[in-house]
This record gives sequence, structure tokens and C-alpha cells, in this order.
Amino acid sequence: MSFREDGQAALDWAANYLETVGELPVLAQVEPGEIRARLPASAPEYGEPFADVLRDVDEVLLPGITHWQSPRFFAYFATTASEPGILAELLAATLNSVSFLWRTSPASTELEAVTLDWVAQLLGLPDGWHGHIEDTASTSTLAALAAGREATGGRVVVCSEHAHSAVDKAARLLGLELRKTAADADFRLRPDRLDLTDAAAVVATVGTTSTTSVDPVSQIADACEEAGVWLHVDAAYAGSAWVCPEFRWSQVGVERADSLVVNAHKWLFTPMDCSLLWSRRPEALRAAFSLVPEFLRTSDEAESLSDYGPALGRRFRSLKLWAVLRCYGREGLQARIREAVRLAELFEGWVGDEPGWELCAPRHFSLVCFRLDASDEENEALLERANRTGELFISHTKLEDQYVLRLAIGNERTTEADVRRAWEVLRREARGG
Ligand SMILES: Cc1ncc(COP(=O)(O)O)c(C=O)c1O
Repeated sequence: MSFREDGQAALDWAANYLETVGELPVLAQVEPGEIRARLPASAPEYGEPFADVLRDVDEVLLPGITHWQSPRFFAYFATTASEPGILAELLAATLNSVSFLWRTSPASTELEAVTLDWVAQLLGLPDGWHGHIEDTASTSTLAALAAGREATGGRVVVCSEHAHSAVDKAARLLGLELRKTAADADFRLRPDRLDLTDAAAVVATVGTTSTTSVDPVSQIADACEEAGVWLHVDAAYAGSAWVCPEFRWSQVGVERADSLVVNAHKWLFTPMDCSLLWSRRPEALRAAFSLVPEFLRTSDEAESLSDYGPALGRRFRSLKLWAVLRCYGREGLQARIREAVRLAELFEGWVGDEPGWELCAPRHFSLVCFRLDASDEENEALLERANRTGELFISHTKLEDQYVLRLAIGNERTTEADVRRAWEVLRREARGG
């Protein structure tokens, strides 16, 4: 078989998958070790046809896939790998650019700068911020906090008790102490409780993982400015909503941040992985990360984006983001974000109107936090039963020591009928099946 024929088969496979993913059980219905047991223990001695690989994807791997592309994937933060993004990934793999220096891939380096400027404009961010792409928000946050440590010499990272565990991990890796600050009744960091003694950086979150609460960034920025502390804003999920002006209330104060992360792979329809990191102080990122051994020295008068983060070899990630921005446009992005929020609002209304159920946190974007008015054990059992049906996948959190269910909308294929079906399954399972 030729690359062209195998490629056609792979593309057909992808198209069929996307057309039928809504019919597959959302959460993989396998036991730990089951997929491994179906795979040979060693690689084949002699090469096999690609068609055999494709067959085994279907027969061996597919049962062990939790379908993030399903329209009824409502766990964590639901995401979309859009069709333009998928096709651009094929092109990026084909080019296989490794853009650690400008000369190793001028187009990748420059397209990355352009797409980050485009997204900054779409989201209404200040002009002139330096942007680049990391794999995940975990890495972006690590990079931002390394820059904060470099710029301030501080030894402590401060964040709210609702900040993502990526902040804890970055602090640990950087040898910085972590100081968690209490949150208010709506799960927002309390600025009156901030203690910035010896602080290198504060992480403010716009759209926390548990509830999408929005920290008061302006007040946190006041405190950071007064204390000379780096302000990093984690808008990994909610930042994409700023493409719609009606969600920019949650952006107030972000213009004063030293760095900001938004994950295009969360709610900007770009396949995993694509985390956008901007900074208004790029020299601090360079001070933290630039290291030029002799074999990387060139006479090029152009920047290398590996000077802004931990990785040297960098994938051509901007290609998929560029494809999404071009094929969807501002209008297409806005329409998808607004639809996700509309569906979340609908679901919130159904839960709010149903006796025996309660809403557990204000809904700001496309996440609804709710629970059955029953014990934690009953809510946990309900989540397990509902997920086991394969008809939907939701996740949970704990708020004020209570087990809370989370339904997050973010897949572009999710329709009102999918959300209604999820609600019917939850009500049915709550009644005992
Ligand atoms: C607010 C927030 N920050 C950071 C992260 C970590 O993102 P990543 O998986 O890209 O490291 C998440 C993941 O859900 C998140 O919700």
C-alpha cells in the first residue's frame, strides 16, 4: 500500500469516527490492564502493513478510548479537536519541523508569533505582549513562575485554595514555597487575606477548575504592584470566552498581569496540545530560560522561541491554531462559545427547577456545579452509575467538604438533545435506574 492509499484510509477512519463518536460509550468500559493484555508484549520483528495498525486501532484500542470528542463528554473541561485543527496536525507531522532556533523553522517561529498576536486581538488583550506556545498550562505556569522568581528573587508562590494543582507542582519543581489563600463564599481568592511576604509571584485564576470562579484580578494586581511581585493569571479554560465581549467582565485587571495562560486546547477548538502563554515582561522569561551552547549559536538576528520556556525542541503547534482561527473566524468562535454557555444555562435551569436537586456554585461560563440533595456517598454512587451507562461522562469536585457533580460543556458537536439526554440519564439513575 502507498502512503496515499493508507492516508486515504486513515482520513476515512477519522471522518467515520467523527460521524459516529456520539454512538460510542463516552467513558471507556474496560478494566485496568485489559487493553495491555490484548497487545503483544514485544514489537514485531518485521514491518506490518499500516492497514493492520488501523484494524487494531478499531479492534484493540477503541474499546479502551474515553471519547473526548463525544458530544456527551461533560467531564473536567470538555474540549474539541476541530476538523481544521485535525488536518493541520497531519500537515505539522508531515513537515516535522523542530523549531528550537529561528533558522530551523522560520515559518513556525513567525507563524507562532502571528497567531499569538491574532488571539491576543480576538481576546481583547493589550497590544505588545509577547506570546508563545507551550504544550500545557502546567508548563506555561512553570515558565511564568520561573520568570517571576528570576524577576523578583522571591521564594514563595501565592494562590487561592481553588488554584489548579499545576501551581502546586510548578512551585515544587522550582523549589518555591506555596502559600494558599482563603477564598470567599463564591470560591474567589480573598485579597484581604493575601500575605505577600517573600513572594515571587501570585497566581490569580480566571475560571477555576472546580467552579469557574473568577479571582478579583484588579485587587490582586494592586497588591502585587505595591509589593513588587509577579502576577500570573491562569485563564486556561475561561480565557477563550473573552472572544465574546459579554464575558470580558472577567478580564478586568488582566491587562496588569505580568503573564497570562490560555489553553487553546481547552475551549478554542484546537487539538491537544496548545497552551498560549503571553507576557508583558518577556525579558524575564528569557533570563530564566535562555541558554545558548556553541552548537546552537547562529548569526541570525531573530528570536528563538525556545528561549522562553523549558523545551528546546518545539512542535509546529501554531499551524493547527492558525487553521482553526482561519476556518472559524471570530464569528465562528463566538457562535460556538455562546452555544456552549447557552446549553449550560439551560441545564442549570433544569437542575434549579427540579425538587431534590441543588446548584452548588454560581455559573459564569459553561460549567454547572450541582448535586442531588442527598449524602456524598449517594452523589458519588450516582456519578459512577451514570458514567457506567456510557451515555455521558461527568466528573466531580469537593466544595466546602461536599461532593459536587460537574457538567462542563465545550464540545462543538454537543446539541441541546445531548444535554437533555444527560439530564434524563442523571434523573433516571438518581431514581435508582
Ligand atoms: C484553571 C486550570 N489551570 C491549569 C490547568 C492545567 O492544564 P494542562 O492540562 O494544560 O496542564 C487546568 C486544567 O484543567 C485548569 O483548569
